[in-house]
Amino acid sequence: MAQAAVSIETEGGIATVTLSNPPVNALNQAIREGLAEAVARIEADPAIRGAVLCGAGGSFIAGADIREFGQPPQDPSLPDVVRMLDAATKPWVAAIEGVALGGGLEVALGCSHRVAAPGARLGLPEVSLGIIPGAGGTVLLPRLIAADKALGMIAGGKPVSARDAAEMGLVDRVVPGDVHEAARALALEAAEAGIPAPLMKRAVCPPANVEAYEAQKASIRKTARGQISPIAAIEAVERSLALDAEAAFRAEREAFVSLRDSTQSAALRRVFFAERSVSQLDTAQGATPRRLDRIGVLGGGTMGAGIAAACLLAGLGVAIVERDDQRAALARCRVLGILDDSAGRGLLSPEARQAAEAALTVATHFAPLAECDLIIEAVFEDMDVKKAVFAELDAVTRPDAILASNTSYLDIDEIAAGTTDPSRVIGLHFFSPAHVMKLLELIVTREAAPDVLATGLALGKRLRKITVPAGVCDGFIGNRIMARYRREADYMLEDGALPEQIDAAMRDFGFPMGVFQMADLAGLDIGWAMRKRQATTRDPSERHVEIADRICEIGRLGRKTGRGWYDYTQDKSGRPDPWVTELIEAESARKGITRQSFDAGQIMHRILTVMQEEGTALLSEGITASPEAIDVVMINGFGFPRWRGGPMFMMDSEP
Ligand code: 3HC
Ligand code: NAI
Repeated sequence: MAQAAVSIETEGGIATVTLSNPPVNALNQAIREGLAEAVARIEADPAIRGAVLCGAGGSFIAGADIREFGQPPQDPSLPDVVRMLDAATKPWVAAIEGVALGGGLEVALGCSHRVAAPGARLGLPEVSLGIIPGAGGTVLLPRLIAADKALGMIAGGKPVSARDAAEMGLVDRVVPGDVHEAARALALEAAEAGIPAPLMKRAVCPPANVEAYEAQKASIRKTARGQISPIAAIEAVERSLALDAEAAFRAEREAFVSLRDSTQSAALRRVFFAERSVSQLDTAQGATPRRLDRIGVLGGGTMGAGIAAACLLAGLGVAIVERDDQRAALARCRVLGILDDSAGRGLLSPEARQAAEAALTVATHFAPLAECDLIIEAVFEDMDVKKAVFAELDAVTRPDAILASNTSYLDIDEIAAGTTDPSRVIGLHFFSPAHVMKLLELIVTREAAPDVLATGLALGKRLRKITVPAGVCDGFIGNRIMARYRREADYMLEDGALPEQIDAAMRDFGFPMGVFQMADLAGLDIGWAMRKRQATTRDPSERHVEIADRICEIGRLGRKTGRGWYDYTQDKSGRPDPWVTELIEAESARKGITRQSFDAGQIMHRILTVMQEEGTALLSEGITASPEAIDVVMINGFGFPRWRGGPMFMMDSEP
C-alpha cells in the first residue's frame, strides 16, 4: 500500500510526523496540506506534548516541489505552513537525515529544535534556481544564526554539513546514532523545559564581524555579473536586519514571486531538469550495462591521467598504458598528484587514497588491457595513430570489452570501421581537467550496440558526470559550436575588435573568461596544429584569418611561453599587448578591411548568433535531438552562464 503523504504516530505523548513524497520528499500540495493538518491536530490534542518531524526514505526534505512552479498556487502555501509551525506552542523537533534544502530547511526553521545526522546537509540553494527562499528563510535564518553566516548560506546557496550547521547554531544536536530517537528525547525534554520564543518574535542576530559582512556583500555583487538572485538575496537579508519580522516576511514573499516568474529562474529550472534527463538515450533503453570493474586508459597525458584519476576516485580499477618507461612514470606521477590533491582537500580519506593507488597499474605494453572491461583511448589527436592503436586494442582485449575514444574531433565511425567488431566502439569525450569537469559526451557511433551505449551511460553515472549523448560529427556538440564561435571571434578581430574587447564582452555576459584568454590557457599550439592539418583541405573561398598563426609562428604559445594573445611577463593574469594590436591592424589592412568599432552588445550578438546557428544545424542533422542537450553542454563544458539558460534557451526566450 502506498504510504500516505503525511502520517502521524503517537507514542508516550510524542507524535512522529512523517512526510513521504519519493524520491526527495519535495513539499507538494499534498504534503503541505497534510503537514498543516498535523500541526493543527497536535496543537489541539492535549494528550500530545510535542512532535518529531521527519522525512520518509532516509532524507528530510529537498525543498518546495519545483515542478509546481509556474502552475496556479494551491493552498496552503508553504509560508503559511512554516508560520503555523513557528507559532506552535508545543515542541517540534526536526529530525534531519540526508538533506534539508530550501523549503525543507525553512520547515526545519519553523520547528522549535533541529537534530541532525552527521552526514546531513542543510542549505538554502534557491539562488541556484534564480530565486530566493520564499517561505521565511531570509527572515527566520538571521534570527537564529549571525546575519553574515545567514547571508553566506542564502546568497551562496551551498549546503553546509551538520557539523558546520551545529557550529553556527543552526542545529541543536548532531547525533551519530538514531536521529529519530534523539529527536524524540529532545522533544520530551523540551516539553518539560519549555520551548524558545518563535523565530518571528525574536530579534535578528547582527553580523558577527561587520567588516567581513560588508566584504562578503561586495564579493557577492562582483561575482553575480548580471545574475539577479544573489543580489536579491543580499537585499532580503538587509531587509531582515532593517524591518520588523512581519514586514520582512511579506517583502520576502513579494521578491520570491517576482523572481520565480523571471526569465532567469525559468532558465535555471530548465537547466536543473535538463541535467537530470539529458542522458536518456532511446537506443540504450532497456539494455543491461556490461560489467564495469576495471578501466584501461591508453595514453597517460593530460587527458589520460585525468580520466584515470576520475575512475580511481570512483572506486574503479585502472590500467594505464604509455609508450615508454619515462612517460609511464610521468603518467603515474600525474595521477598520484591528482589523488594527493583530492586527499589534501578532504575529498578522499587516507585509506581511500591508498586503495586508489593500489588499484592503479601503469605499463608500457598492452597486456594489462586484456583484463579491462572498458578501454578509453587518449593518445595523440591523429587519425593514423588512433587507427593503429585501435588495431592493437582489437587484438589484445576481451571480445566483450568496450573500446572508447576520447577524440575531440575525429570520426569515430571511421576508427570503429577498422576494428573487427565496430558494435563495441563508442566515443567518451571528457573535458579537461577530466577529474573535475562534470560534462561527458557519449558519442553514439553508427553500429554501437545498445548495451555498449548503456555501459557508457553507466560509466558516466559512476563518475558522477552529466553524460550527454551526441552523434558523430566534427567536434560533436561542444567543440563544434566552440570552433564556430572561435572562428567568429577571429573574424571580428579582422573586422575591428581587439582580443581584450571580445574577452571583456564575454566576461560581462557571464563567461568566466573570454575565448582568447581560454586559448592562452589551453596553449595555442593545439589549434595551430589542427589548422595546419586542415590547410590542405580548406576551401580556398572560405574566409580564413591568419592572425593566430602569425602569433604562434614566433613562439608565442600562450601562458606557458609567457606570451600569446596577451603578455604574461609583467602580470600573470595577462596584459593586452601592443604587438598583438599592431599585428591585428596590419592583417586588416593587408586584406583591405576597414576596421569598425564594436561594442559589447554587438560582439555578443555575433557570438550568440553563430552558437545558435550551429546548434540549429546540430539538431537538423540529428547529432542531438534536444536543444536542452546543447545548452547543458555549453554550460557545463564551456562556461556559458548557467543563469542565461544556454544559447538555445536564449534563442527561444528572447525576442
Ligand atoms: N522538486 C521537484 N523535484 C525534485 C526536487 C524538487 N525540489 N529535487 C529533486 N527533484 C527530483 C529530480 O528532478 C529527480 O527527478 P527524476 O528522477 O525524475 O530525474 C529526483 O528528484 C532525484 O533528484 P536527483 O537526481 O537530483 O537526486 P540526487 O540524489 O542526486 O540529489 C538532491 C538529490 C540533493 C535533493 C537534489 O535533487 C537537489 O539538489 N534538489 C534541489 C534542491 C533545491 O533546489 N531545493 C530548493 C527548492 S526551491 C524552494 O524550496 C523554494 C522555497 O524557498 C519556497
Ligand atoms: P597529450 O599529448 O597530453 O597525451 C597523449 C599521450 O598519449 C602522451 O602521453 C603520449 O605519450 C601517449 N601516447 C601516444 N601514442 C601512444 C601509444 N601508441 N600508446 C600509448 N600511449 C601513447 O594529449 P591530451 O591533451 O591528453 O589529448 C589526448 C586525446 O584527448 C586527444 O585525442 C585529444 O584530442 C583528446 N582531448 C583533449 C582535451 C584537452 O583539453 N587536452 C580535451 C578532450 C579530449
